[in-house]
Amino acid sequence: MKLAVVGGGSTYTPELVDGFARLRDVLPMEELVLVDPAADRLELVGGLARRIFARQDHPGRISWTDDLDAGVDGADAVLLQLRVGGQAARDQDETWPLECGCVGQETTGAGGLAKALRTVPVVLDIAERVRRRNPGAWIVDFTNPVGIVTRALLTAGHRAVGLCNVAIGFQRKFAKLLGVAPDEVSLDHVGLNHLTWERAVRLGGPGGEDVLPKLLAEHGDAIADDLRMPRALIDRLGVVPSYYLRYFYQHDAVVRELKTKPSRAAEVAAIERRLLEMYADPTLDEKPELLGKRGGAFYSEAAVDLTSSLLRDTGEVRIVNTFNRGTLPFLPDDAVIEVPAAVDARGASPLPVTPLEPLYAGLVAHVTAYEDLALEAALKGGRERVFDALLAHPLIGQIEYAEKLTDTLIAHNREHLAWA
Ligand code: G6P
Ligand code: MN
Repeated sequence: MKLAVVGGGSTYTPELVDGFARLRDVLPMEELVLVDPAADRLELVGGLARRIFARQDHPGRISWTDDLDAGVDGADAVLLQLRVGGQAARDQDETWPLECGCVGQETTGAGGLAKALRTVPVVLDIAERVRRRNPGAWIVDFTNPVGIVTRALLTAGHRAVGLCNVAIGFQRKFAKLLGVAPDEVSLDHVGLNHLTWERAVRLGGPGGEDVLPKLLAEHGDAIADDLRMPRALIDRLGVVPSYYLRYFYQHDAVVRELKTKPSRAAEVAAIERRLLEMYADPTLDEKPELLGKRGGAFYSEAAVDLTSSLLRDTGEVRIVNTFNRGTLPFLPDDAVIEVPAAVDARGASPLPVTPLEPLYAGLVAHVTAYEDLALEAALKGGRERVFDALLAHPLIGQIEYAEKLTDTLIAHNREHLAWA
């Protein structure tokens, strides 16, 4: 089995490689190729990746290249974890929306739209080149915004599945609180990428007992503190929203808070500088603790599990991003949703979902319409399309803001937008 990671020079890569090494029985791999245009980073990250494999006696070969076509040649699966414009572009996405009193975030709101506009054309070009070399290869997309990027890939007919670590993060957290193994815990996870709720936490398989009420009774404070949401809200809803729902449920409070501190991009850039220094140390042969300060906890396990289900045709249930196809009947079939799905060599097939309560369905429908318009804007360009997407976004919605944010978005992203 050969895997390629596009964006392989990312400081996240040692996390992924550590997962490949530990979980080699789940995903036996002969060859791993890291592909990235940043040759200097590739050297550092690739060197550490080899040392991690060697330390754990993994027999797989690791190589790296800045030549995408050569790197993906013969790959069974290609993992996408790239960031167009790097942390510098993210820093802008997180900053200029605040001037309008709107949340500045890498995937939510106007910043998320900017990221989608920069990213979709690049990812589609990569996917096209993968398909030309390698028509059977699977594309596993972690590149944000995962919902919109996955919709772009699937609409263009690619063999693609979108992945995020929010669900596996909850699974691991709940398992720990319950004192059971993670694979004992199945989540009734529903929504769109970065817009999800855990409606049930089942023990011993998807049909098992729902222990969410017990979990909230015993550990409600810890769960609420972690999400930085009021416990009373979680108790009243009886579901656990993902921390991205803070940007909706506590929008103005979050904006006030964001205005008082450096951007997450600036924090991450500082962490990355230190990580790269560490990676340069030829005696380092494991992922450093500092990597735990990034948001991607358990991302490697999720990636290994999903890739294994696709390539080994297992039919296991994984929480992924894929076409709706009637699963949430109030959304178009070609909307991309994030739900448990049976995953095998034909891809992801969502499991049936109990009807979504209006409290969540309204927001899901609203953001889906925004994502539809965001994808239109990313594919076709044009100021009007950007404006439409912003006007349709539930966190923006007013002409005055949509006008100003449209101009600011385009001004900050001109170098990445072919049409601007
Ligand atoms: C979580 C999200 C990812 C996101 C990451 C940001 O893992 O699921 O989609 O990229 O957080 O983490 P960072 O360390 O870059 O802020
Ligand atoms: Mn994510």
